Amino acid sequence: MSKLALHGGDPVRSRQSAWPAWPQYDEDTERELIAALRSRRWGLSWPSDGTQARERRLAAAFAQYNGVPYCVSVDHGSSALLVALEALDIGPGDEVIVPVMTWVAPVSTVLRVGALPVVVDVDPETGCITPEAIKAALSEKTKAVVVVHLAATVADLDGITRVVEEAGISLIEDCAQAHGAKWRGRSVGTFGALGAFSFQNGKVLTGGEGGAVITSDERLYHRVQQLRADSRRYPDAEVVAGGHELEEVGEVMGGNYCMSELSAGVLLDQLPRLDGQHEHREKVAAVLETGLAALGDFGPIPVPEQVDRRSIYEYGVRFRPGTFGDVPAQRVADAVSAELHMAWWPPDLPLHRSVMLHPHTKRRFAPVWTEEGRRRALGRTYEGAERYRDTTLVFHHQALLGGVEEAQDMVRALEKVRALSRHL
Ligand SMILES: Cc1ncc(COP(=O)(O)O)c(C=O)c1O
Repeated sequence: MSKLALHGGDPVRSRQSAWPAWPQYDEDTERELIAALRSRRWGLSWPSDGTQARERRLAAAFAQYNGVPYCVSVDHGSSALLVALEALDIGPGDEVIVPVMTWVAPVSTVLRVGALPVVVDVDPETGCITPEAIKAALSEKTKAVVVVHLAATVADLDGITRVVEEAGISLIEDCAQAHGAKWRGRSVGTFGALGAFSFQNGKVLTGGEGGAVITSDERLYHRVQQLRADSRRYPDAEVVAGGHELEEVGEVMGGNYCMSELSAGVLLDQLPRLDGQHEHREKVAAVLETGLAALGDFGPIPVPEQVDRRSIYEYGVRFRPGTFGDVPAQRVADAVSAELHMAWWPPDLPLHRSVMLHPHTKRRFAPVWTEEGRRRALGRTYEGAERYRDTTLVFHHQALLGGVEEAQDMVRALEKVRALSRHL
């Protein structure tokens, strides 16, 4: 244990020891994809062969997976958020409360509908938005809250639904990082008016790109369908061969955010694998967590007791401040990555410090991104987010699709980097 791999020492895990690959596929996936290809129906706006579009079958399967009556697929998770906001008729003059610790999409989509994102701090232990932060940010203009279930945990849905109900505003759950997580036996994404998902390449359920919106509200379902398909939706009548499956309705003006049939084919193959992968990751995570507990100083991102099942998108290792002296988390992550030949990193920068959130670079956002708007959006302190980021290291969920040995290597790498942190 004399020298860090970062400085040319022997790594904990050799370059030859491969990590599990992501995404996972086999001959069944290839068959689905080739069938979609040969059908020549690669998009929704093309005559049907008399069978339901793959997209429609996927939507039905994903609705069932989450225990809701309705699902509409889209081309990206960002589009899912956009049409969810539009379905709730959120627009100019409105405010939407969003967390500072997330990918930029929950904030950029609020700007795209012409509303003002009010960006609030998060819990330093979980990185998730809290009921208290939501309550403190409410105003007469607040129309909705976007909750993000971050990384490998679930936001406090009991507290949040209470605040939202008391305030008489809507809840959108961003579940891009939480497919299949359950709170008190119920799938996340079903607690708000709408749940939004991403099926981008790294997500636990992926078709390369893609997304979905789920809801239990029939009116919102009809709106979401039209908002994602240029004001068209599926008719009540059966599909006929040679006919178009989408009917022009025009109750609400939409855009085109339709999922490709090729992506839907891949997703139809991937969805039945999801629960098995959840189980596999949990088994390996249990070994990792036993190792972390034995090391002291380390632990997983806490999961509220109401969570019956978490969904591990990015596994987060939390460490006690001072564990690595005053070495920045990024440097620690680099050292661990070098020991394992696998990427670890501190969570993405909170949005108030991120170049991804620069609305002043687009003229379209000028009406909301005034000096006053900017102050209202970002004029808070974000100590919770900074603490979370300074004391968390994350890695992609694919590493938990291996075995016990991989988990033990991770523990050994942390132990070694901690022991030699004065050399970092
Ligand atoms: C929390 C969250 N919301 C939304 C998105 C956007 O999804 P997409 O990349 O599919 O547009 C992501 C993607 O990483 C995300 O992590």
